[in-house]
Amino acid sequence: MTTPSRVPAPPAPAIPSPGDLPSHEFGLALGLVVGRYAFKMQDLHYGYWTDDLPVEIQNIAAAQARYTEFLMERIPRGVRTILDVGCGAGNTARKLLDRGYAVDCVSPNGPLTAAARELLGDRVSFFECRFEELETERRYDLILFSESLLFMKLDQALAKALGLLNPGGHLLITDIFRVPAEGKSPIGGGQHLPVFRDALARQPVDVVADVDMTPGIAPTFDVLDQAYAQAIKPAYELLMARLVAKYPWTMRVVRWKFRKKIERYEQKHFSGRRNAENFKRYKSYRLFLLRKRDGQVVGKGEGGRGKG
Ligand SMILES: C[S@@+](CC[C@H](N)C(=O)[O-])C[C@H]1O[C@@H](n2cnc3c(N)ncnc32)[C@H](O)[C@@H]1O
Repeated sequence: MTTPSRVPAPPAPAIPSPGDLPSHEFGLALGLVVGRYAFKMQDLHYGYWTDDLPVEIQNIAAAQARYTEFLMERIPRGVRTILDVGCGAGNTARKLLDRGYAVDCVSPNGPLTAAARELLGDRVSFFECRFEELETERRYDLILFSESLLFMKLDQALAKALGLLNPGGHLLITDIFRVPAEGKSPIGGGQHLPVFRDALARQPVDVVADVDMTPGIAPTFDVLDQAYAQAIKPAYELLMARLVAKYPWTMRVVRWKFRKKIERYEQKHFSGRRNAENFKRYKSYRLFLLRKRDGQVVGKGEGGRGKG
């Protein structure tokens, strides 16, 4: 059984064991360090851009806060206990706690767990493992996957989540999905939407809500593309030029040895194709609220510790 820890938060270590992290987890940890310093980012999900919010990088944290509000408004009445799967830096869990929910967190990423612990202290229990490996006797009214399902095997994750729900409990999933479209997407990631819908049809769940968030999420990609075009690419080119001038032979060897990786990185990030237009073409960003189909509805109409 995976033992949750309820110890007081230690000071956040500086990226423990970064060498052991899968590259996407390392990217998330690095993104948090930079985003927190430069843009006061507290979250690791995309922004949700409402009409009143100018689409510029300085507003990314505000757009992320809108996303969390959007998500929390969909939590059904009567929910009291929530498992936040892939809690990132813990900011969503903090907001859920502030609204009166009892929260546990799953986090397989050492640096992010440290950040979440610092924020949440002993107000939550942490399961420091991948969701697929979680073993617990605890059961929840709602299990939240906020941009974490994309990293998991679909059928395995859904079946596991349903097993951890109280009767009539809910799954709340917000995520990027791939949709059928011509050509190769410059933006990676996400479950295949038709496959996801088929998987739902095989599970004992009712789809309570299926909301298309794509138009509100897509501007995040214009903002990121601008950051790459106007800051990261010029900085990268400047650095490369200096290194080539200072260490011509070493750089020749490095560029040759890592040519494929360098080419891939430059193509991925500097192509200018990772923008809102292509996001809308190749992806669908959705919120799914699913209710486990086993009769009893969770605490219907009760105020409970939740929003009520
Ligand atoms: C894009 S971040 C989202 C973080 C947070 N939920 C949020 O909305 O800000 C993805 C999160 O999923 C977690 N994650 C990735 N694979 C996971 C897995 N197999 N089990 C549990 N969490 C996972 C990562 O460590 C990270 O916390």
